[in-house]
Amino acid sequence: MSNSIWRKKPLAAYEADVKNNQLKRVLGRWALTSLGIGAVIGGGIFTLTGIAAHDWAGPALALAFVMAGVACTFAALCYAEFASILPVEGSAYAYSYGTVGEFFAWFIGWNLILEYMMGATTVAVAWSGYFEKLLKLFGLHLPIYLANDPVTAAEKAAKMREAGEIVPDFAFAVNLPAFLIVWCVTYVLIKGIKEAASTNNIIVIMKVAAVLFVIIVGSFYVDTANWTPFIPEAVIDETGQQHFGFSGIVTAASIIFFAYIGFDAVSTQAGEAINPTKDIPFAIIASLLICTVLYILVSLVLTGMVKFDTLDLKAPVASAFEGAGLPIAMYIVTIAAVAGLTSVMLVMMLSQTRIFLGMAKDGLMPPFFKAIHPTFRTPWKSTILVGGIVSVVAALTPIDKISEMCSSGTLLAFAMICGAVWLLRVREPQLDRPFKAPFLPVVATCGILCNLYLMWSLRTDTKIAFLVWGSIGILVYFVYSRHHSNLNKNS
Ligand code: ALA
Repeated sequence: MSNSIWRKKPLAAYEADVKNNQLKRVLGRWALTSLGIGAVIGGGIFTLTGIAAHDWAGPALALAFVMAGVACTFAALCYAEFASILPVEGSAYAYSYGTVGEFFAWFIGWNLILEYMMGATTVAVAWSGYFEKLLKLFGLHLPIYLANDPVTAAEKAAKMREAGEIVPDFAFAVNLPAFLIVWCVTYVLIKGIKEAASTNNIIVIMKVAAVLFVIIVGSFYVDTANWTPFIPEAVIDETGQQHFGFSGIVTAASIIFFAYIGFDAVSTQAGEAINPTKDIPFAIIASLLICTVLYILVSLVLTGMVKFDTLDLKAPVASAFEGAGLPIAMYIVTIAAVAGLTSVMLVMMLSQTRIFLGMAKDGLMPPFFKAIHPTFRTPWKSTILVGGIVSVVAALTPIDKISEMCSSGTLLAFAMICGAVWLLRVREPQLDRPFKAPFLPVVATCGILCNLYLMWSLRTDTKIAFLVWGSIGILVYFVYSRHHSNLNKNS
């Protein structure tokens, strides 16, 4: 076996993995699609729409959803082709290891950490926003310093004082609901109580019903004056960043891109799919298309119901119904959001520990990540570590910062997948491809360009943080992973 950073995991090893599959193949194409929708609809649509419209796009939020949806469609087509070639768990990391090479796969895996771990963190903060709203509906109020990270708490307190309210001084602030929900999910994951497909279906039906409810009922409360001007005039802030106008829409697209994340989680279910080579590609594309249509309609209704500059930032959808004087609707949306966000968190943290497990089995991560609990048969040590990191970051960081880090990692991973699928078509045209992305050179080029462009449109400090993250990843590969890879032992 070569020592090159482009060495590949032999396809025979994957075939052995597939043959040794201990999981029950029970999921058909629509059950897989439902899993995809379950992982996609969550914090993005219920929470980030507030920030994206309020600060960046105004009513043109719908255009931002179209833009991000198009970028994701290119990536989804490439993802689907990859999944049809290698129907194994482990998502893009596993596909790239067998086809493009070790370093490429490592770097995708490293970015998927941002996707899944920071994704779960963002959703935990979004969950907290909706949970706080739910408590309020029952007359319970959490103090600012127990329901927000320090930065958000200070900003909120200042605003309230400006408005003449009396807010007691506080020395610390922590988002306690976000912290606690992560530990509840961690506990469930360690105990191995895996969501059965039927449970997931119930949550998905609830979520989709809530979204349809928002679209249908909300449309009666749309005031078209709120859509004018549809694209507010551009404003440059003190850091030189443009809000609103075309650039603002692109930034909003890069923020709400988060709402689409999760369709790729379907690929982690390959071991449970009845016909993975055909049904996983179908589910990836179907879940993305269904969510895109729902998102565009929700954003039109939301910005039609409430003037964009008065949108609530933590729970914009529920608050819009509160403003419209529809308390029952607010209850429905809030309860559906709390339940729906919990399932997204569960799938994200589960996916993260599976990817760590795959990387540790290949020797690229320390054995700590593949330690299986003797009773529960789950990767308990890595689950606790993931829970620890997610809970602390969620407790102390503002939601926009975390979600953008998540988006940056995912956008790069998607661009890399588009490149990898194209490369593989050229290098190994003879491989059996039950699903072939149409017009691949065009789709892959557009996928790479759109995803990199959205990544470039993220705020400067996110890009700097991402560069630091990427550099650490490269360092870890050369210092640890390369030397511990199983491919060394095989040689
Ligand atoms: N797309 C998922 C969400 O919006 C991560 O919560």
